[in-house]
Amino acid sequence: MGLRKDFLWGGATAANQCEGGYNEGGRGLANVDVVPNGPDRLAVISGQRKMIDFDDEHFYPAKVGIDMYHRFKEDIALFGEMGFKTYRLSIAWSRIFPNGDEDTPNEEGLKFYEELFKECHKYGIEPLVTITHFDCPMHLITEYGGWRNRKMIDFYENLTRTLFTRYKGLVKYWLTFNEINVLLHAPFMGAGIYFEDDENQEQVKYQALHHELVASALATKIGHEIDPENKIGCMLAAGAYYPYDCDPRDVWESRKKDRESYFLTDVQSRGEYPNYFLKEIERKGIKLEIKPEDFELLKKHTVDYISFSYYSSRVTTVNKEILNENTDGNLFASVKNPHLKASEWGWQIDPLGLRITMNDIYDRYQKPLFIVENGLGAIDVPDENGYVEDDYRIQYLSDHIQTMKDAVEIDGVELWGYTTWGCIDLVSAGTGEMSKRYGFIYVDLDDKGEGTLRRTKKKSFDWYKEVIASNGANLRNK
Ligand code: BG6
Repeated sequence: MGLRKDFLWGGATAANQCEGGYNEGGRGLANVDVVPNGPDRLAVISGQRKMIDFDDEHFYPAKVGIDMYHRFKEDIALFGEMGFKTYRLSIAWSRIFPNGDEDTPNEEGLKFYEELFKECHKYGIEPLVTITHFDCPMHLITEYGGWRNRKMIDFYENLTRTLFTRYKGLVKYWLTFNEINVLLHAPFMGAGIYFEDDENQEQVKYQALHHELVASALATKIGHEIDPENKIGCMLAAGAYYPYDCDPRDVWESRKKDRESYFLTDVQSRGEYPNYFLKEIERKGIKLEIKPEDFELLKKHTVDYISFSYYSSRVTTVNKEILNENTDGNLFASVKNPHLKASEWGWQIDPLGLRITMNDIYDRYQKPLFIVENGLGAIDVPDENGYVEDDYRIQYLSDHIQTMKDAVEIDGVELWGYTTWGCIDLVSAGTGEMSKRYGFIYVDLDDKGEGTLRRTKKKSFDWYKEVIASNGANLRNK
């Protein structure tokens, strides 16, 4: 059994990292707009430093992104040229509801995405829409406190009902929340939450997650009611934890680490909180406010498929000395794996870890999977024509695609598709840099926002085109 004939090859982006046009088309201000690049970024995205508007000291890369708001036709044409079967993108909530709590949506925002989806279909590209990719209208944060407030479920319901109704027939594949587990690591970015001085941060985060889980189940219900053809999935920042050592205590530690994320997919896929999670929060003294009707909603409206991002595996240990030898990663600190090399940003490279992660998830849920992010963030040096010889990216992607195929062909994992992250260069979520590039398409823009924004093809552009044309059979770098 090879990859399905209708395997959905493509690429992924997020509104806040590429659209720009932050104050155009009636769009309202959002959390993602006021996140600066530079040394203060981490404190802001993690909710430790309050930033609710722009200031003169910082640079805010999301204001312009890569200007896709004005250039989406040119960009989608390039995706079409590569033969994309799908394009994963996200909706900027504040384009549809500028404040978030209005009853009536902003027609200009709705029109924008309608045109974009139609443009995709022109090239036979199926849109895959993330309803929320780290963004939240600022008004919902200043007025209601973001996802810590249960009222957010109503506002999200309104958003999703509007989207499912308006885009019926145009969009079939949906994801409710991008990397839902990121809320625990970057609560301002994940859920519009910043903390007051003396509050119990864990309590706030888990309550916010409960609200998102209920909102996600409600969206799944509504999406299926409006169009039974809709396929609605969850999305996790995945990457299996390995024990540093075969000391059983390390093995146990790694299982516990995996559960810190899997409890969310357990709810979204199986419909209930697992016992290990309920015991854990009880020990921590966290009391979740759960309404009786939440249980039924979560149980009845589970997801159709499980999507995830994979950049690297992770490592943990009980050995305190080793535990401090951290490496960078997708917002998760992890122990450095001595067997692996790393990217220029310290993210360790582990293609086999993708196969391991796919098997872990499939064994656990037996639902179709969708890899919606994978890729290498690297410094690219273009020649005078804007051409980049990105053999390192081709190597990274082909190694991962090979193990992905092994998971399908040898292990029998059911997989719907694969979208590489940042198929066109865009602003990094973690660092706010432009210089951390993932794309097949180079964008002339630097970390200070200087550049022509011109798009040029990298070497990987033609390579990926061939991968898609051969349905993954030809991974060779010529
Ligand atoms: C995922 C996010 O965490 O990883 C993306 O869903 C993000 O938004 C991607 O861009 C890569 O991370 P970074 O920090 O290199 O942009």
